[in-house]
Amino acid sequence: MLGVCYYPEHWQQDWWAVDARRMRELGITFVRIGEFAWSHYEPRRAEFAWGWLDRAMETLGGAGLKIVLGTPTAAPPKWLMDEFPEIAPIDAQARPRGFGSRRHYTFSSQVYWRESARIIEALAQRYGQHPALVGWQTDNEYGCHNTVLSWGAEDLKAFRLWLRRNYQTPERLNKAWGSSFWSMEVRSFDEVALPNLTVTEPNPAARLDYWRFQSQQVAEYDRMQCEIIRRHSPRRWITHNFMGFFNDFDHWHVSDHLDFAAWDSYPIGFAEHFPFSDPERQRWQDTSHPDIAPFHHDLYRGVGRGRFWVMEQQPGPVNWAAWNPAPAPGMVRLWTLEAHAHGADVVSYFRWRQASSAQEQMHAGLNLPGSHELSPGGREAGAASDDLARLGNLPASAPAQVAIVYDYEAHWVTAIQPQGVDFRYSELVFRWYEAIRRLGLDVDFVPPGANLDNYRLVLAPTLPIVSVSAEAAFAAAAGIVAFGPRSGSKTRHFSIPEELPPGPLQRLLNTRVTEVSSLRPGAAIEISGAICGHAERWREQVETRAETLAVFGDGAPALVAKDNYHYLACWSNAGALCMLMALLCRKAGLATIELPTEVRLRRRGDFTFAFNYGETPWAAPFIEKPLLGDPLVMPRNFTVWRSQCVDRSSEGA
Ligand code: GAL
Repeated sequence: MLGVCYYPEHWQQDWWAVDARRMRELGITFVRIGEFAWSHYEPRRAEFAWGWLDRAMETLGGAGLKIVLGTPTAAPPKWLMDEFPEIAPIDAQARPRGFGSRRHYTFSSQVYWRESARIIEALAQRYGQHPALVGWQTDNEYGCHNTVLSWGAEDLKAFRLWLRRNYQTPERLNKAWGSSFWSMEVRSFDEVALPNLTVTEPNPAARLDYWRFQSQQVAEYDRMQCEIIRRHSPRRWITHNFMGFFNDFDHWHVSDHLDFAAWDSYPIGFAEHFPFSDPERQRWQDTSHPDIAPFHHDLYRGVGRGRFWVMEQQPGPVNWAAWNPAPAPGMVRLWTLEAHAHGADVVSYFRWRQASSAQEQMHAGLNLPGSHELSPGGREAGAASDDLARLGNLPASAPAQVAIVYDYEAHWVTAIQPQGVDFRYSELVFRWYEAIRRLGLDVDFVPPGANLDNYRLVLAPTLPIVSVSAEAAFAAAAGIVAFGPRSGSKTRHFSIPEELPPGPLQRLLNTRVTEVSSLRPGAAIEISGAICGHAERWREQVETRAETLAVFGDGAPALVAKDNYHYLACWSNAGALCMLMALLCRKAGLATIELPTEVRLRRRGDFTFAFNYGETPWAAPFIEKPLLGDPLVMPRNFTVWRSQCVDRSSEGA
């Protein structure tokens, strides 16, 4: 199903009915409104101006649209900021971040919590039972514009309280943080300073706790919003629109209070931001990379416990990357179907009409600026709507057979202490995902500690801190399991485990790491054996009593295996990674197909979808009679067919 983001407050009222009718004609069912409209709801403290929203909801609902209402807390109004300047976030250089855009609040401000609760309560009381209202979005993109970590007096106050709750005594804190180093001990929690603006790097254990603390504040702030909404708005769901490649808070925790997850998909913008090589960047400039959107669909399907929406879908050029190419013809339609193939319930475009003024006037919408004329993206949304109508009700997504363990702390640990500047968590996980998807497989993302019983293959590209529950889940896993470098390399308090890395995983792997080496760009160490290629960026020296499957050029183990557990002691190049995935799949008994770089498959129930991001048709070896599309999967296009039932137990090696 389709939706759209709409800002009635940006357009003259006599356009609303025309817009609503045209949305329905385009095949749109849901409309999200209101997430930045606080100053329109409450132009002055306690003076509410609901008239326009009453009329907007009546008009949209009257046209048969289902309304998703956003809480407006991502954009506190000027009068509120003037009244309570302490709401403003403070950057890492101790400068207040000013009014005049959005997200100008810190999660540590108690005043802001109170004010947020007040406006949400007023909104939910008034519209919570509106017949056209089907659900809520809390806030908008928590953390966007780097706003999870704030560094001011409000933050320090809240951090000290958090530390007191977690450590009880300063002695325990000193011990956990290893504060005897460089005379860093504190005698009371009031002596704790923010872990920034130190002469050289601050204590990594303090930084990790600071990240945890801020992450928990995001989750608690979201829970506060959800509790108010649920009190006043029975039988309506609640979601939040998460972002792409964003790890500043633990999304698994935030989603605990939500009914499902949503995310904002800007495939070309993300490809521009991702650290691709120059040739890759050129190649994917107007289509995006074929794993960028799918990676997030799969991640947020996991975060949403099986359910997700795309709340904002790129409809044309965006305005916020260094370069903002228009999507190649066909891509908006392709991305829309692709999200559905990965299990999305709804794809909602951002935005109905391109803004004529202010910051986002260069960002496309489904309609041209200030007009009722569809943009190229708008016409493709119409085509996607026809496609979806032809496919009818889509079957539910079955669980995949491959799981990737995704851990937000892994990002924090490797960002705080990269040891090699290019050891980037998102990139590492993305490359493992890409390698397994090139083999035609579907993937689920799971949090550390999730039950792994039903997966034939479990991948942990890196998991520096292995909790007791994560260790137990790995130990109980029935399938093939593979860990990447730096797994088990830190304790919960950011120190090296007594038994050396991989810490608690030594029990499963009979292997320990005695030295790590980060490699400068261009340095490569050969790998040969069951996988061939080279290590780049990172290489470890391991001692092992497990089986050595591949070695580095100097003969030291590069890939080891004990029973179903594997450890890869490096960041490997793409070729070796593909070989590793193929090897693991053979061991796991998973049938694979080597796909071209530009093509991906995805099943949803008994439907199989093939997406072609390339410029040449792909002759799939197995499509007989497509439900949609050509048996030859055309460029920037897709084909859907009903899969044969296969007995997977007999597949593979
Ligand atoms: C998202 C945001 C929207 C809009 C959009 C532009 O990050 O949620 O409000 O700014 O980006 O691409």
